Amino acid sequence: MKISKLKKEAEKELQKIFNLKDLNAWHKKYFGKKGEVSLIFSSLKEMKEKERKKKGEEVNFAKKELKELFLKKKRGLAKGTKVSAPETIDVTRPGKKVERGHLHPLTLIQREALHIFESMGFEVALGPEIETEWYNFDALNFKKNHPARDVHDTFWIDSKKRILLRTHTSPVQVRFMEKHNPPLKIVIPGRVFRNEATDSSHEADFWQLEGLMVSKEVSCSNFKAIIETFLERFFRKDVEIRLRPGYFPFTEPSFEIDAKLGKAKWLELMGAGMVHPNVFKASGLNPEDWQGFAFGVGLDRLAMIKYKIKDMRLFRQNDLRFLKQF
Ligand code: FA5
Repeated sequence: MKISKLKKEAEKELQKIFNLKDLNAWHKKYFGKKGEVSLIFSSLKEMKEKERKKKGEEVNFAKKELKELFLKKKRGLAKGTKVSAPETIDVTRPGKKVERGHLHPLTLIQREALHIFESMGFEVALGPEIETEWYNFDALNFKKNHPARDVHDTFWIDSKKRILLRTHTSPVQVRFMEKHNPPLKIVIPGRVFRNEATDSSHEADFWQLEGLMVSKEVSCSNFKAIIETFLERFFRKDVEIRLRPGYFPFTEPSFEIDAKLGKAKWLELMGAGMVHPNVFKASGLNPEDWQGFAFGVGLDRLAMIKYKIKDMRLFRQNDLRFLKQF
């Protein structure tokens, strides 16, 4: 058969092929060992040299073109199979697990604590982390020479302008009472900073939750009832509490509250007391008219007791083996 006729036939057949199986059969028919094109090549041997050269070029050219058409078709079919053949997806294979993040344990603790106080009628109030000396110390009745003002405890942002990183959440008591008249019940969550060495129960950057209740008549026993209810609900089991006399310039009387869960060691959990008359005055309220209690609890310490964590520093190491447990 003439090569030009063979080529036309092969092209026609190729156009009617829509799957790889037929395409392979086509390839075998023309390019297999005994395929049509191969046979034409063998027939060249019997020709005279001049004719062989001419025919040979023709056959080679046709062969190249057919091969190209074959490859093009093959690529087209391969593409088509991937995109349009849903039966190639194996629905029985297990899916790929998508990793989901979750909240940090200290955020969870904070939310839970706020939720309990909110259910007892407390509102949430916030204040700035960068604070003035007035709100952090003076308004809270810290005397000028009080050791807590020493640079060892306070990170000063600007010592000339007396601007600092707040060392506790108590300044928000004053900020809130300046703007809101009692009676009031608020909780103040927030980050606080102290320039001190860290160890298993001390951080330089930690979280506190402040509480303040002010009305015409508020007593120590109101405080005790509220804090006991809170701890019981927060730990969902019996917690041993120890009250020690304490000293804070902004409360009178003042006390320290320690807590212990099971066999764990006693941890200093919070400071508390009855609002000092000078704090009412600094907030623009008449101390003759109002009474109140306030407390400040370390949220990191609450988390340590609740989850039986021995070292506070674990919260900030960002070790996923630790964080994934919550
Ligand atoms: C205060 O900061 C007072 N403002 C608390 C207060 C508020 C008293 C209202 C009276 C009325 P203190 O320095 O003791 O107090 O800290 C309160 C709590 O914060 C501690 O009981 C402890 O739980 C936590 N805390 C204190 N220092 C650290 C620290 N370095 N790392 C982690 N938690 C700490």
